[in-house]
Amino acid sequence: MSAEVLVDWVPIARPVVTEEDRRRVLDVLACGKLSSGEWVERFEAAFAAYVQVAHAVATSSGTAGLEVLLEALGVGPGDEVVVPAFTFAATANAVVHRGARPVFADIDPVTFNVDPSSVEDALRRHPRVRGIIAVHLYGLPAAADVLAELADRHGVWLVEDAAQAHGAALWGRRVGGFGLAAVFSFYPTKNMTTGEGGMVVTQDPRLARRVRLLVHQGQSEPYRYEVVGHNYRMTNLAAALGLGQLEKLDERNAARRRNAQTLTRALRDLPGVLPPTEPEGYLHVYHQYTVRAQRRDELSRHLWARGVETRVYYPEPVPHTEPYRRLGYTPGAWPQAERASREVLSLPVHPALREEEVRRVAEGVREFAQQVVAWP
Ligand SMILES: Cc1ncc(COP(=O)(O)O)c(C=O)c1O
Repeated sequence: MSAEVLVDWVPIARPVVTEEDRRRVLDVLACGKLSSGEWVERFEAAFAAYVQVAHAVATSSGTAGLEVLLEALGVGPGDEVVVPAFTFAATANAVVHRGARPVFADIDPVTFNVDPSSVEDALRRHPRVRGIIAVHLYGLPAAADVLAELADRHGVWLVEDAAQAHGAALWGRRVGGFGLAAVFSFYPTKNMTTGEGGMVVTQDPRLARRVRLLVHQGQSEPYRYEVVGHNYRMTNLAAALGLGQLEKLDERNAARRRNAQTLTRALRDLPGVLPPTEPEGYLHVYHQYTVRAQRRDELSRHLWARGVETRVYYPEPVPHTEPYRRLGYTPGAWPQAERASREVLSLPVHPALREEEVRRVAEGVREFAQQVVAWP
């Protein structure tokens, strides 16, 4: 059955754009300054204040932000960077695009985030590692406090890939401020959007300056080139949308958390399905509500047939994908990432869901789970 024929289809994501958002974007169109400029500066300042860091540089995407940050950190051929085996490929791709080599670490089976002991093992075995990229997957912070301490001890840096975790916090501190720098994405499915867009944040003024130069064709002022740069700029149109989205972020994250609590209450005792967890001290912002399911693909089909969209983020660990196999990685070394890619299923949790839609998601899972015999 195709999604389009169902009237009451429950999508996995639906960006929320208000009248106020539209008005701000129209203001930019009316003034005619469509590229970078004053809206981008305001968005950068507001975002830095939100994350409680000194500097923020807006970029054309999260991917561009990751790439330019690694370039500013001087990552290049011969270097290695530790990344989780279970993440969106962009995290590792940024390392490969610098001519460096990702060293994949396995994940914690409970949080789906990178396992600090696997990171430590990678640091011991790979003396050429320059840094660690921790991903706050699905909106749950990685153990960034533990990883920051580990990075210090081994003399390497920590970068946070916070593409999925705007507003998530660890022991009361928002993610984005635990490492040397962090990168956010504003892709339309994210907790806040600018269409396409990203943000690099850091406390380090020299690093922020290098990132800004690289984003703006290497120019410190028009036609004064300091480095060979790129055009990875955000537009005023995108930033105007971002300003409104940032104002609503906490409210929309709270709605995601309410939806997640409703789902967890309905699913927690079911056989064959494990709801996500929020460890003590962690604030999860549920970019995704991801369960482990014993018969994942059947559950997914069951839900799609009832008009509930589900997704598998991610069907393979990054080092198992075709381009990484060509780079010489072989399956078998990341058992928890492999198991997660066989078992995870993300269900709709976004803030535009109506109560009745959340109930339908939960009921769809319950119906299916009651047919399952046992969870090993
Ligand atoms: C973990 C992670 N890293 C990086 C990115 C890249 O962000 P973007 O899509 O804005 O380039 C994404 C987003 O899609 C992501 O989920």
